[in-house]
Amino acid sequence: MIKLTDIKKTYSNGVTAVKDLDITIESGKIIGFLGPNGAGKTTTLKIITGIIKPDTGTININGYRMDTQAIEAKMEMGFVSDDADVFLRLKGIEYLNFMADIYGVSQEDRTSRIKDMSIRLEMDKALKDKILGYSHGMRQKIVIMGALIHNPNVWILDEPLTGLDPKSSFVLKQMMREHADNGNTVFFSTHVLEVAEKICDEVFIINNGQIQFHGNMESLKAVQKNDDSLENLFLEMTRDA
Ligand SMILES: Nc1ncnc2c1ncn2[C@@H]1O[C@H](COP(=O)(O)OP(=O)(O)O)[C@@H](O)[C@H]1O
Ligand SMILES: [Mg+2]
Repeated sequence: MIKLTDIKKTYSNGVTAVKDLDITIESGKIIGFLGPNGAGKTTTLKIITGIIKPDTGTININGYRMDTQAIEAKMEMGFVSDDADVFLRLKGIEYLNFMADIYGVSQEDRTSRIKDMSIRLEMDKALKDKILGYSHGMRQKIVIMGALIHNPNVWILDEPLTGLDPKSSFVLKQMMREHADNGNTVFFSTHVLEVAEKICDEVFIINNGQIQFHGNMESLKAVQKNDDSLENLFLEMTRDA
């Protein structure tokens, strides 16, 4: 479970990216974080993962506070950033072993996880090559594998489906579904309404740094029909698709 209380963040240039954020992400569901470009999604996810420190508020991950128990909180999480250009000089397998070392994953566990994930994501043959030579989609997949190498309970993914080929996108959605169905936490951002509609059990909609809507898919459909004040927002997220 992820719990954000009264989070606010203003960047040094004076832009307030998020404010008044009170969000509880329960486990056992795929929860979408939906909003147009610039809404505050990446900022929020970086706050949850401890990469950005908020100006006010607290973050709690499975009972661990990010301000006082950062290592414990981070061990619970796997974060897939929207920037897949990491450690380009390493070979895929070296990157995965590096991530496994950081998280203290045993040889036995890392071997079996690398095997499973690389076959599912069709990365097994590419592991011996340098990430520099990977396509954008392959870089995204190696980042996903690295983020999940310690089998974290909480998955946080920033626009994970953007730029993935259809087959890999299908496999990742399947992995997200299995993880949620096993009682874990899956929270991912998207700026595309249709993506959220297809795979989420529940969504938070953010715009201008504030939550505009939270609910399950039925209530999302209802507001789409009935709430004129959100109409432009929905239009923007549909147009982007
Ligand atoms: N490092 C930064 N410095 C200043 N402003 C930023 C920075 N990162 C993001 N912003 C601004 O914060 C707002 C939210 O951005 P972001 O969290 O990236 O939104 P999203 O991921 O929903 O597109 C935008 O106005 C963006 O321009
Ligand atoms: Mg973003």
